[in-house]
Amino acid sequence: MCGIIGYRGDKDSKRIVIEGLKSLEYRGYDSWGIATVLNDRVAVFKKVGKIGGFSADQLKMEAGRIAIGHTRWATHGNVTEANAHPHVSCDGKIAVVHNGIIENYQELKAELKDHKFVSQTDTEIIPHLIEGYVREGYGFVEATKRALSRLEGRFAVVAVMAGYDGLIGARRGSPLVLGLGGGEREYFIASDIPAFLNHTRNVVFLEDNELVVLNKDYRIMNIKTGEDIKREPQHIDWDAAQAEKGDYPHFMIKEVLEQRDTVSRAIKQSDGEIMEVAKMLNDSFGSFFVACGTAGKVALAGTYLFSRIANKHVNFSVSSEFPNYTHFLTDKTLMIVVSQSGETADTLEAMDAARAKGVKIVGVVNVMGSTITRQADRFLLVKAGPEKCVASTKATTGQLAIVTLLAYACAGRLEEGRELLEDASAKINAILTEEYVANIRALAEKIKGWESMYIIGRGLNYPMALEAAIKVQEVSYIHAEGFAGGELKHGPIALISNGTPCIVLVANDETKPDILSNAVEVKARGGFIIGVAPKNNEVFDFWIPVPDVGNASPIVNIIPVQILAYHLAVLRGCNPDMPRNLAKSVTVK
Ligand code: F6R
Repeated sequence: MCGIIGYRGDKDSKRIVIEGLKSLEYRGYDSWGIATVLNDRVAVFKKVGKIGGFSADQLKMEAGRIAIGHTRWATHGNVTEANAHPHVSCDGKIAVVHNGIIENYQELKAELKDHKFVSQTDTEIIPHLIEGYVREGYGFVEATKRALSRLEGRFAVVAVMAGYDGLIGARRGSPLVLGLGGGEREYFIASDIPAFLNHTRNVVFLEDNELVVLNKDYRIMNIKTGEDIKREPQHIDWDAAQAEKGDYPHFMIKEVLEQRDTVSRAIKQSDGEIMEVAKMLNDSFGSFFVACGTAGKVALAGTYLFSRIANKHVNFSVSSEFPNYTHFLTDKTLMIVVSQSGETADTLEAMDAARAKGVKIVGVVNVMGSTITRQADRFLLVKAGPEKCVASTKATTGQLAIVTLLAYACAGRLEEGRELLEDASAKINAILTEEYVANIRALAEKIKGWESMYIIGRGLNYPMALEAAIKVQEVSYIHAEGFAGGELKHGPIALISNGTPCIVLVANDETKPDILSNAVEVKARGGFIIGVAPKNNEVFDFWIPVPDVGNASPIVNIIPVQILAYHLAVLRGCNPDMPRNLAKSVTVK
């Protein structure tokens, strides 16, 4: 949560920070702020609300070579200008932006009796702590190092000081990446690469407990020991256009339509790599799929895919509950974590708990260089490109493709898995026409006034029913719930009244007769049945055709629901890219 950017160089620092914040806004968007560094002071501007169309030209503040910015997802303190970042020291000379949570801020605040605090945030403690050490005579770098080593909790921090020709960044638990600019001694530092992708693709990822000083050169050191750390830059092959909306009204629909090729990209994994992970799985015992939210639904689908394709039992836990299962872990356990961002705090904590028991970890992750890619024993990259909409779509189907391929690899049928997924990819490409999308939009028009809807599926498509509900809830704010088809009659069917929309996810497998019977039961109570199925059926009031792709049915069945959720959001006047109360990259527990 929260997006951070800092810039040092000869270009227009205000503009770079404002543009960077716009591309980071998916991480939090309740307020934002910028600080520019001058010789004698730090100038600060903050505003409540989304940065939206605000342009650097509207900023009437003086700027030099250095600026920092922040877009906030509130944790401590309401959404107010005072609580927006950057936060400054008493003398107004030190400014800090922060992502994470400082757990011991109250104790630290109690120590700093002679400092004046103006916000309710945990962050504000940081510039004051640094100021305290500067008052004691330490230079800015040493003062910041000392201040940061007092913090408990998670943080990514960027700090600046009036008259100091540099930026200091540091991280523990929250992401921070350094961009090496083209110009001489030009640096970017941000929570995520898209913030500076227009300027450079040469990056250095900071590790936990590292601090970087960006001035004439970049110098990375350990926060606690001060020991220097050498790290070579990496080149990222993301295309800047992938992180732009282009002609699309929203990132969500752009990313949904990019699924024309995300499955075929995801399965471009080398046979050797896939087979090594498959061997780890086959050698493991009592293994777990672990993830949160949408990625959690992919992980749950993984248990069905492994059971069905590889005849292998794998457990599932949402990340935040995983620590409750640690009694079952042994050094034979393998943990497969699924994550778009690779930075989700609950998943990282689950990994810590697993590692403590000697468990090996495999990540299925979209963001290269993210914490999960660095902490897992192995990882498979989803290769969906930057996903900017808060609601995950293309990364989800990419993850599903990898998990499906892995199940085939474990069964010793890797080629068959590849062929199935290539075929699914080609068929997805073929159905995603303007007409297809318009048909689903017409459905959205019909049902947009409903405040509740239900989604059912069985087998491989039960996790997709849960995922479909998340998509509808988070972007359209319609109360949507997903169920296993068989569960409806055990309670939820009482909620069906005349016209209640019920989406039925159908696969052409052994679950088909039963899920269609469940649809008939709902229809008998007045439900409006929307069938997502390879073939039409008389029970459907509205049919959304999907290709018949065997075990890849979860991938093709979720896509039309993503499109429906998108249009429901737009028709109900919601911004699908930035749903209320949410943020991408959930880096708090
Ligand atoms: C919903 C959504 C979230 C994420 C969840 C985990 O559309 O995107 O439910 O799936 O927050 O995030 P990652 O995948 O980054 O670990």
